[in-house]
Amino acid sequence: MDSIVVTGNGPLNGEIPIAGAKNACLALMPATLLSEEPLILTNAPRLSDIATMTVLLQSLGADAASLQNDKVLALSSHDLTSTRADYDIVRKMRASNLVLGPLLARAGHAEVSLPGGCAIGARPMDIHIDGLEKLGAVIDLKDGYLHAKAPGGLKGAVIDLAFPSVGATENLMMAATLAKGSTVISNAAREPEIVDLARCLNAMGAQIEGAGTDRIEIQGVDRLGGATHRVVTDRIELGTYMLAPVIAGGDVECLGGTLDLVASFVDKLAEAGVSVEETGRGLRVRHDGGRVRAVDVTTEVFPGFPTDLQAQMMALLTTAQGVSTLHETIFENRFMHAPELVRMGAEIEVQGGTARVTGVERLKGAPVMATDLRASVSLILAGLAAEGETVVSRVYHLDRGYEHVVRKLSGVGAKIERVKGT
Ligand code: EPZ
Repeated sequence: MDSIVVTGNGPLNGEIPIAGAKNACLALMPATLLSEEPLILTNAPRLSDIATMTVLLQSLGADAASLQNDKVLALSSHDLTSTRADYDIVRKMRASNLVLGPLLARAGHAEVSLPGGCAIGARPMDIHIDGLEKLGAVIDLKDGYLHAKAPGGLKGAVIDLAFPSVGATENLMMAATLAKGSTVISNAAREPEIVDLARCLNAMGAQIEGAGTDRIEIQGVDRLGGATHRVVTDRIELGTYMLAPVIAGGDVECLGGTLDLVASFVDKLAEAGVSVEETGRGLRVRHDGGRVRAVDVTTEVFPGFPTDLQAQMMALLTTAQGVSTLHETIFENRFMHAPELVRMGAEIEVQGGTARVTGVERLKGAPVMATDLRASVSLILAGLAAEGETVVSRVYHLDRGYEHVVRKLSGVGAKIERVKGT
């Protein structure tokens, strides 16, 4: 297994291009299953999760090709040959469950493996299932698979989500586009990835209003056409790289970033004493490398502080002036990076969903292990300012959500390299 070696090397300077959003692309790709016409996605990120979704779509009979250095995805599901999402693919990536709604709407039936356990939490699908049943589907669990059918087609309904789940909102919004009549999803998720998906579906001929608010209305149509859609910027990659010059000092411009994508995060940085500048090309962060002020962070659904930036923020707060607390409210087990940061000399106490971080002068490099996607990049960020060398192992987690990490960080002066595993 490959590892990444980072050596604290002083301030970072330059530009980092931010890619298209993994979590938008993983919802946009299954939208091809709703139509017989081609769907072209531009500004696609080059990630192992995107490759896994490509394999899944191909296993259903869709054509899925990546062009122009993987920046463009050409998708078409004119002839579906299967409606079964196999366990062997789904267990690699939970987002595979986003084919359930589109398959049910298009083919009237689907067999989708339940994803199984996840490092950061139980992550059940009850809200997805409840919503699809409200749209008239009959869903049984057999041999680890959800068997869903709607022989007469789906019918519009009013669905009040028990929690504003991102995945459930995406699955139900896609299913409702071809349902008879109108659907209202209330207490819907408001993440930018939902807005991006609705924008693409409307370009395909859907009738969706209210995406980005907690009430989404969908007027079902008989069929959807094709479209060309540019994937929205990855706000989590953006936030991650904005923290690099704060942790190591320096002046970095994140190209393609916009404030609306990361407003609550930028507010938290301001509280810690760090300002962010909009440049017209992106977001610029300058910091003298001094210790920031301790702050309290509570993760929330959008537009609150994103859970996917919690680990990276913890890496910063390990050297803050004072004591910070981080409350993780979205996932029940998302502090696995804490003991690894403690190996680097951080002072962190975790109790349930709360981590108490007492800032130290400086971290020390150490061998550490990645446990999930965001935990892995938080260890790399911590290594940027640590004394000596940090060796992060199990970086396959990182490849799922960050393209060209070594190239992007060394491009602004970081001392970082990838070491091939034996
Ligand atoms: C999406 O996951 C993202 N993944 C996650 O990013 C992100 O952390 C999460 O939204 C929250 O923002 C993708 O978009 C592919 P949820 P999703 O359904 O859709 C509970 C990353 O690092 N819940 O909003 O799975 C669930 O257990 C990943 O890129 C139910 O109880 O998240 C969790 O506690 C990690 N029942 C909470 O809701 C359900 O049916 C939020 O889950 C569905 C969810």
